[in-house]
This record gives sequence, structure tokens and C-alpha cells, in this order.
Amino acid sequence: MRYLIFAVVFGLVLSSTAWTEQSFYEPVPKMKHPADNKWSKEKEELGKMLYFDPRLSGSNWISCATCHNPGLGWGDGLPRTIGDGQKELGRHAPTVINSGYFALQMWDGRKKSLEDQAKGPIGAAAEMNQDYNDLLKELKAIPGYVKRFTSVFGENSLTIDNIAKAIATFERSVVSKNSPYDKYWAGNKSAMSSSAVNGMNLFFGKAKCSICHNGPVFTDSGFHNIGVKAAGPSKVDLGRYNETKVDFDKGAFKTPGLRSIAQSAPYMHNGTEATLEDVIAFYDRGGDVKENLSPLITPLGLNAEEKKDLVEFLKALDGEPIKVILPDLP
Ligand code: HEC
Ligand code: HEC
Repeated sequence: MRYLIFAVVFGLVLSSTAWTEQSFYEPVPKMKHPADNKWSKEKEELGKMLYFDPRLSGSNWISCATCHNPGLGWGDGLPRTIGDGQKELGRHAPTVINSGYFALQMWDGRKKSLEDQAKGPIGAAAEMNQDYNDLLKELKAIPGYVKRFTSVFGENSLTIDNIAKAIATFERSVVSKNSPYDKYWAGNKSAMSSSAVNGMNLFFGKAKCSICHNGPVFTDSGFHNIGVKAAGPSKVDLGRYNETKVDFDKGAFKTPGLRSIAQSAPYMHNGTEATLEDVIAFYDRGGDVKENLSPLITPLGLNAEEKKDLVEFLKALDGEPIKVILPDLP
């Protein structure tokens, strides 16, 4: 009898740990396209051309891919991006991978959709520095574009809004899939090293990362001040506060997704952490700037092994390489 009770209790403990472990895993859902910008293969292909076309910039030198380069994890590999006239800007170019899943775009969440976002950099003097009317004139003179816009959006449809719609449709195809982490939860327990598995348990446990980095793409879609030090030309960046004017948001930035994050170093809104090892060391010391720091950020007391395990886990979030064949531009 005593053994039976023991067996039942032991069984319950086992099954409950198995349940909690499994419960934090969420596969990446199928991409949703907005009702007013439905997917079609042709639209995605047109968006891809526009994404890689430097003629979208005033100088005809800068395309979206200059700063969101597939070869650099769909970022630019720089701490802070370089815009029109080779000037350094205040923020780091985030990866476009999985951006179709984010509720809000930009480090401060000031854009509500990818469509809305895509128009920004084209017109921004500091980025692509292109006059919209000049751009429309330029593209209307290219028969290949006129033909494609007509076929995707109808007659006389070469507009800034439709340019943005096509680009957004392409961006929604840039998804991180089938990582070792996904394979592990699909049943292939050898897909992740034991170090990465330890890192996973730390991520969802002692290291508290999942308080903010949660859900299928590892973001709570929220904004937090995690104590990143200032750097670059914009000495003070108030982040989300610029949008909300709520003191609580001073220095708060959007929680980035973490799938395929190993591909797009350096890290943070101003690129102050060069490697994933640096990011973990940053969290371990409880951030750098204490003013308005989120109470969720505290020193973690990780040992060297645990820090390494966390890095291994982040690397296990790497999806399969996203293949892009560069489009022939019309
Ligand atoms: C000069 C470099 C540069 C160019 C060119 C550029 N971007 Fe960006 N992009 C950035 C930077 C920097 C940010 C972050 C800005 C911020 O948060 O204030 C950003 C943010 C974004 C985001 C938001 C991602 C997120 O996680 O919030 C998307 C999507 C994006 N860009 C797509 C594009 C598209 C599409 C184009 C072309 C139409 C483009 N970008 C052109 C530098 C650039
Ligand atoms: C309080 C919420 C919160 C917690 C807890 C948290 N993060 Fe973050 N994380 C953020 C925010 C917000 C940013 C962006 C901050 C910035 O740029 O100023 C970020 C940035 C990052 C980045 C850089 C991503 C990029 O695109 O530049 C990585 C990697 C990361 N976190 C991993 C972790 C890990 C690992 C842990 C646990 C040790 C963790 N985070 C804990 C909110 C959090």
C-alpha cells in the first residue's frame, strides 16, 4: 500500500513536471494577412522586387535590403544604422524576420502595421530620402512595374499605399521556421544539446527571461526599460515615452522577438551589446542604467556554465536558412 501511494505521488510529480515543461512551448502559427491586403504569390513577388530595389531611395543607392540584408540576419550588422549621406542614425536596424507577427513595429512601437511602416523609411530624409511624387514618376516610367501593379492591384494602381502593401506582403513571408527548439518539441530530443536544454530551463525559470520574451515568437508585445546604456548620436532616447508621454515609459523599448536572433548581432535598440554572450552578461548584472529600470530586471547570479547554456538555448532558436533568390528588377 505504502508503495502504491508512493508510486501514485511520484507519478503525479513526474506528469506535472512534464506538463509544465511542455506548456511553455508554442509553435509559430501560420502567418495572417490583413483583410485589406490579402496574400497572393504575385503580390509577394512584386513586394520582393521593391524591397531589393535601390531606386526606391532618393540617391538610388539604398534599398530596404541595405539595412535589412538577408545575408546579415535581415539587419545591417551595425550597432546603429547608416542612412542617407552615410550618416549614423540613433537606432539599430532590427531584423525583419518574423516582423509579420509583431503587434506594433519599431523599437518604440510607433507604427501599427507593416504597411504603415514601409512608407516611413522611403520618405524619411535620414533614411531613403525619397520624394513620394518623384518615386511614383520614376516607377511609372518602368513598364515592367506598371504591368505588375496592374495585374496585382488593377489599373492605375501604382501608388505609395500599394508599394507599401506589396512590400509588407513580402515581409510576411520572412519567417523563422523549424528550429532545433521546434524539432525538440516535435519529439526529436537530440535536436538540442544538453547545454541548450539547460539553457531552456533557465530561460523559463531562474533567469526569468520568459516574463517578457514569451509566446510563439518570444515577445509579450510590450515595452520595458531594461537599463540599456546610451550610445550613438542620440544621447538620450526616451523610447516608448515619445509615443505615450507616460513617465513609466521613459527608456522603455519594445520586447524584440528572439527566433533566429543569433543571426542579427549586434543587439539592443542602440546596438550596445555586441554578442549574445554580452547580452547574457548584461542581464546577469541587472542592466546598466538604474533610472526608471523595470522591477523585473534584477541581478541573476548566474555561473559561467549557466551563462553558456542560455547562449546555447538562444542559438537553438535559429530557424532553417531563409532562402531568397534575388529578383530580376524590371
Ligand atoms: C537606412 C537604414 C534603413 C532603411 C533603408 C530601412 N530601414 Fe527599416 N529600420 C531601420 C531602423 C534603424 C529601424 C528601427 C527604427 C526605430 O525603431 O525607430 C527600422 C525598423 C524597421 C521595421 C520594424 C521592425 C520591428 O521589429 O519593429 C521594419 C519592418 C522595417 N524597418 C522594414 C523596412 C522596409 C520595408 C524598408 C524599405 C522600404 C526599410 N525598413 C528601410 C533602418 C532602415
Ligand atoms: C523586463 C522584460 C525583459 C526581460 C525579463 C528580459 N528581456 Fe530581453 N529584452 C527586453 C527588451 C525590452 C529588449 C530591448 C531593450 C532595448 O533595446 O533597450 C530586450 C532585448 C533582448 C535581446 C536583444 C534582441 C535584439 O534584437 O537586439 C536579447 C537577445 C534578449 N533580450 C534576451 C533575453 C534573455 C536571454 C533574457 C533572460 C536572461 C531576457 N532577455 C530578459 C525585455 C526583457
